[in-house]
Amino acid sequence: MVTYSVDISQYITRLFAVHDEGLETAWEETPRKGLPAISVRPEEGRFLQFLARACGARKAVEIGSLGGYSGIWIARGLVPGGKLITLEKEEKHAKVAQEHFRRAGVSDRVELRIGNALSLLEEMHQEGPFDFVFIDADKPGYKDYFSWALENVRPGGIIAAHNALRGGSVAGLGDGDSHTRTMQEFNRWVANQPSIISTIYPAGDGTLIAVKSF
Ligand code: SAH
Ligand code: DHB
Ligand code: MG
Repeated sequence: MVTYSVDISQYITRLFAVHDEGLETAWEETPRKGLPAISVRPEEGRFLQFLARACGARKAVEIGSLGGYSGIWIARGLVPGGKLITLEKEEKHAKVAQEHFRRAGVSDRVELRIGNALSLLEEMHQEGPFDFVFIDADKPGYKDYFSWALENVRPGGIIAAHNALRGGSVAGLGDGDSHTRTMQEFNRWVANQPSIISTIYPAGDGTLIAVKSF
């Protein structure tokens, strides 16, 4: 078995996740503008775009916008006329994300809502059902976000959640941190959910993916 490595990540990225100016701006400027350097990796972004397109996403939700990098990938995976609603609690992050959406030419397809994700989601039931949900915010909130997604995604819709591997610590690698157990429990809980098929895509920090049954 080949071990996933920086070289393999770069090989995939150079072939499939090449940045245009909009993606490069979001990638470079997010940390430069003082936001944390925790955007999804390029090949993870490409995977999100792939998932959105594969399920024919017309209505998508992202929980945790940061500087807009993953949102640009998702927005570019939507079917024509599709829309991404992205949720962010930090005003500063929201402002940076909006600027990056504009620079990437996806502002017409992305609506950013500022506030606590769970409160915003509670108001969104009537806007669904949704085709695609990407979870990438506070780790203790993942179970609530995923439960919301299970209720509000259509059959055949896809739910994805970032940081499923927590640097490998969920599998016993390294020291782990306060969120290692949170993610171990979250992964196990998802794996045992009925009416979805789920697994983890291991590139970057791991993306848990689930497709809702018909
Ligand atoms: N998806 C982004 C990275 C998100 S980082 C990308 O790959 O480009 C996580 C983001 O979630 C941060 O911007 C943080 O402010 C936001 N966040 C954390 N807890 C939140 C909450 N309860 N509600 C809304 N946003 C939250
Ligand atoms: C961290 C990384 C992430 O992708 C995230 O969503 C939150 C935190 C981190 O490395 O701390
Ligand atoms: Mg993340």
